[in-house]
Amino acid sequence: MRTSVVIVGAGPAGLLLGQLLHKAGIDNIILEQRSGDYVLGRIRAGVLEQVSVDLLEEAGAAERMHAEGLPHDGIELLFGGKRHRINLHELTGGKRVMVYGQTEVTRDLMEVRAKAGLTTVYEAQKVQPHDFETDAPRVTYEKDGVQHTIECDFIAGCDGFHGICRASAPKDKIKTFEKVYPFGWLGLLSDTPPVSEELIYAHTERGFALCSQRSQTRSRYYLQVPLTEKVEDWSDERFWEELKLRLDPEARERLVTGPSLEKSIAPLRSFVTEPMRFGRMFLAGDAAHIVPPTGAKGLNLAASDVGYLYTGLKQYYQSGSSEGIDAYSERCLRRIWNAERFSWWMTSLMHKFPDMNDFDVKVQEAELGYIVRSQAGSTSLAENYVGLPLL
Ligand code: APR
Ligand code: PHB
Repeated sequence: MRTSVVIVGAGPAGLLLGQLLHKAGIDNIILEQRSGDYVLGRIRAGVLEQVSVDLLEEAGAAERMHAEGLPHDGIELLFGGKRHRINLHELTGGKRVMVYGQTEVTRDLMEVRAKAGLTTVYEAQKVQPHDFETDAPRVTYEKDGVQHTIECDFIAGCDGFHGICRASAPKDKIKTFEKVYPFGWLGLLSDTPPVSEELIYAHTERGFALCSQRSQTRSRYYLQVPLTEKVEDWSDERFWEELKLRLDPEARERLVTGPSLEKSIAPLRSFVTEPMRFGRMFLAGDAAHIVPPTGAKGLNLAASDVGYLYTGLKQYYQSGSSEGIDAYSERCLRRIWNAERFSWWMTSLMHKFPDMNDFDVKVQEAELGYIVRSQAGSTSLAENYVGLPLL
């Protein structure tokens, strides 16, 4: 078998890349180790920057997002028991974010890929990239006990944090940067109307909380919890009680509770791999970097990597120039480090760290006060939150 680009991983990064390449006439095969249902069962963040919206449009997968997604012009910061609105729209000269779940993005991309008749091999086992430092890379895998080889021009490692592509990069050519946070987020999804029209990021003495949403009738809430917590110890009742304790009186009053559809604990991590290209293999999305979810940057970074990779590959196939693919790693990393900085900063600002003393809490509160009172402070938050322009 032969194709132009083998994409490893059918998460949002791999599916988006596959669709964009297809639109540009570049054939590709996606190898995914899990089933389609498993991929769709993962619940992740749900805030899209304009850059991501634009790429989904270009991929022809934006119809349902425009019909059902919720454009948001602001977010709320809750601290000292009060909520303060950050007007993203005004502060950024008319930008906004789109609230639309990653699961739905993935479903839409899967659908357009299936409609286009493109190959995705689900439940591909032992996927392994080879010879990517030569001009003849290939990828091997097993399906139903049969060994397959695909010869290709390029390999795109869109296989997430635990994927095989980064793990296959030569150890002496790769450097990683990492920060692990001493807490996790316990998330709950429920068919209840969101407590507020906009997202609430809450700084409280009991720890951080986030009120997010998927639609007018589906909510997503998070609580900061110690990493030692077990999800089995969190009944729905216990979750709702704790969330109420972290809200202001009005929101507490308005909160509609209900049975959970999903509940899980995710650790928080900052992680970057440099470089993101190894010969004819490129890393994109979570395969190359992780951000803590506080700034909602994970999916958006994956999308912008894919945007750069697609542009570079299109240029290569259409004009023979390797300028775009040569610049890929550097272009991505500039954007990634900005988002890493922002996500780390927002995480540090909003959470209760185990080693913090009263002084540290006062400093967090002073900074939050500065952000909401100062045009410069709130603009800095707003322009990072809606996403910095592509460089
Ligand atoms: N072989 C084939 N597929 C693999 C392998 C492997 N060895 N290892 C992992 N995969 C698959 C996973 O099963 C998964 O479906 O690669 C896919 C990677 O998808 P994601 O983890 O969703 O990563 P990505 O597409 O980069 O999306 C980034 O996900 O975690 C969030 O915050 C993050 O929103 C961001 C988005
Ligand atoms: C979510 O809706 O899951 C979500 C929203 C904003 C974040 C993180 C997660 O910062």
